[in-house]
Amino acid sequence: MHHFAYKEGELHAEDVPIGDIADAVGTPFYVYSSATLERHYKVFAGAFDGVPSGVFYSVKANSNLAVIRTFADLGAGADIVSEGEMRRALAAGVPADRIVFSGVGKTRAEMAAALEAGVLQFNVESEPELEALSEIAVARNATAPITIRVNPDVDAETHPNISTGRSDNKFGIPWSRARDVYARAAALPGIEVVGADVHIGSQITQLAPFEAAFRRVAELVYDLREDGHKIDRLDLGGGLGIPYDTGEPPHPDDYAAMVKRVVGNIGCTLQFEPGRMLVGNAGLLVCRIIYVKQGESRTFAVLDGAMNDLMRPALYQAHHDILPVREPAADATRAPVDLVGPICESTDTFATNREMPLLAADDMLVFCTAGAYGAVMSSTYNTRPLVPEVMVRGDDFAVVRDRMPVDDILALDRLTPWQEAGARRGAA
Ligand code: LLP
Repeated sequence: MHHFAYKEGELHAEDVPIGDIADAVGTPFYVYSSATLERHYKVFAGAFDGVPSGVFYSVKANSNLAVIRTFADLGAGADIVSEGEMRRALAAGVPADRIVFSGVGKTRAEMAAALEAGVLQFNVESEPELEALSEIAVARNATAPITIRVNPDVDAETHPNISTGRSDNKFGIPWSRARDVYARAAALPGIEVVGADVHIGSQITQLAPFEAAFRRVAELVYDLREDGHKIDRLDLGGGLGIPYDTGEPPHPDDYAAMVKRVVGNIGCTLQFEPGRMLVGNAGLLVCRIIYVKQGESRTFAVLDGAMNDLMRPALYQAHHDILPVREPAADATRAPVDLVGPICESTDTFATNREMPLLAADDMLVFCTAGAYGAVMSSTYNTRPLVPEVMVRGDDFAVVRDRMPVDDILALDRLTPWQEAGARRGAA
């Protein structure tokens, strides 16, 4: 469900014609619908009405301040994996005591900053991390509330690059060692055990892998309580997958029904860290065609957007639906085309042999379902500035990130002192 549709022959974001935004900010740009963001949040959070629970929006999916604020205004907390993300969450108005700090490589400086801010909990992923966190907390006269992320060795049946719950993934503490590690945690002076945590991967489109993981963790919760630990919180990790292509992942209500069945009576506050399902289809990447060029055997549409703006096709061979901004006639001739960016790599290909209505230079296209892991994963490769992000609400829109000036990219570089000296000598 989203709020992008053709009206009077042109694609709109809510009530705003995409062309109006393009006139204001140029292309490429990302556009987000606040109505879609809000709806997704309400559907997910609403599915757990009456259950002691908290939704911690996984900021990594889209960390624009306006996006985080949209969820914060609805009562969401934040799931963060770096000090940078913590600062974004705080700046967007998420209170520190609604922030959970996940991630396999928290540095000591990041732990100190998070303790200073007073985050709700650390989801710890290894024994060395536990020891370091205890030391940092003791040095600050503080105690760090923790859960331990256990790796349940369950196959999430998703793309291998985003599967995290197998024993050969770098994430979490091996299932077999969980009780020992909890015992160590309880003995450390700077640590307070508050719960358990599991996350098996992203873009999971079936309930079975979640259920298998949650059952294992539920068993563990009982074992841990027997061992004398107070396990009040159960963090169940990221959210459901979303439809990029064909197929319809389970509805949040079905997910919630399964969660309630499996861990509803365990006596824990349930915590969720959804990212993709809240923001994914609330965003589009809008590009313009620079050239249409005829190869020997195929046609290429060369866009002004590239793999540095939307990495998912290059990185995961991900499918994104692509729509022309001008609505094609129902009987428009369609032909296969390769949609590519200007970057000097063959992986800079968004789609091959995609059936599209006939395209011409200057036409605008949108990549659908680009709200999650789109703008956040972009880079300045080929010294291409990061593109603007725009938020729409009804018939209003606002730029929520400016296009990065190329001067700002250059300003971070320096010549070496000896090059500067050489340049001065050369000038003399
Ligand atoms: N919690 C933890 C500990 C995570 O590692 C993740 C995602 C989430 C929550 C949010 O998961 P979600 O609800 O979004 O599925 N760049 C990849 C996705 C990487 C996901 C990493 N972790 C992509 O574009 O598909």
